[in-house]
Amino acid sequence: MLSSALNRASRSSGARRAVERFPVTRKVVDRFVAGETIPQAVAAAADLDGRGVRVTIDVLGEDVTDLAGAQAIRDGYLALLFELHEADLAIGSDVSLKLSALGQSLPVSGPEIATLHAHQVCAAAEAVGCTVTLDMEDHTTVDSTLLIDNELRADYPATGNVLQSNLRRTSDDIAALAGSGAGLRLVKGAHKEPAAAAYQRKVDVDEAYASDIDALMASCCYPMIATHDPQMVAHASSAAQVHGRGSADWELQMLYGVRTDLQARAVQEGRLMRVYVPFGDDWYGYFMRRLAERPANVAFFGRALLHR
Ligand code: FDA
Repeated sequence: MLSSALNRASRSSGARRAVERFPVTRKVVDRFVAGETIPQAVAAAADLDGRGVRVTIDVLGEDVTDLAGAQAIRDGYLALLFELHEADLAIGSDVSLKLSALGQSLPVSGPEIATLHAHQVCAAAEAVGCTVTLDMEDHTTVDSTLLIDNELRADYPATGNVLQSNLRRTSDDIAALAGSGAGLRLVKGAHKEPAAAAYQRKVDVDEAYASDIDALMASCCYPMIATHDPQMVAHASSAAQVHGRGSADWELQMLYGVRTDLQARAVQEGRLMRVYVPFGDDWYGYFMRRLAERPANVAFFGRALLHR
């Protein structure tokens, strides 16, 4: 129930104003967000690089409703890529794009505008040796995102995308992409979805996630297993072995500030570990989804409020 309320709040402008006004919010946000500026994001990437961890960086923003906003996000990515290159951190790094931040839901020609912006970011990324992954938003955007990803891959084959195991359609989507060789990030799914589209019980999502790992490992795709669930990490490692995948043939991904113990252990064990590093001032939706995922995070937020 708490998780549903937080997911609803992540889309409410009233709740947004209330949360943003709490003076201690920033302190809690800092656990999950690597700052508001490009130099802060680059510093976080350098720090992770020093620990043997790769990054995928997200310029925070979603559900952008005007063209100028979508262009500003695109420009944010272009500036970020330039600075990553200057800091000698671009090669092997990745950026994560939300198509809704690039204009996908604009009332006129939204998908075309988002595709153009994504093309521009992919071109800049390729020029500096960086790759791009398209984040997946709620289930209503999946068809459009897969279509745009398909178009981008024709020009930039290293472009990856995300599939969410809570969605009932995902096993079919993996089957359809199995021969494509695409980079596929598998997640459990962070959005509150209707029962017609998604499994509602954690046990069913976990079962689907394990079975999707098996299908991905058996495919020609490059699996990016994005989870903090130790059982799923172990499942992925054995599935990789079964399918003869070496340490360079798949990777683990986790979120900035979440289960840093598991991140360090993965590096120690010689796995390719990548951390999703979000930055920017539009952190509200991202932050609320992190609270919704785990009641303990709400308690952490509550304690910070009490001790302010
Ligand atoms: P699960 O939720 O079962 O958690 C397992 C354990 O992980 C918990 O017991 C806890 O220890 C830890 N944990 C999980 N979430 C935590 C949190 N917020 N704070 C503290 N501890 C936490 N989703 C989506 O819909 N579209 C997308 O594009 C992406 N992209 C993405 C990229 C990357 C790199 C990751 C790691 C995740 C995403 N997600 C996402 C989010 C994903 O769908 C999912 O909501 C979270 O990863 C949490 O699910 P877990 O697999 O970690 O398992």
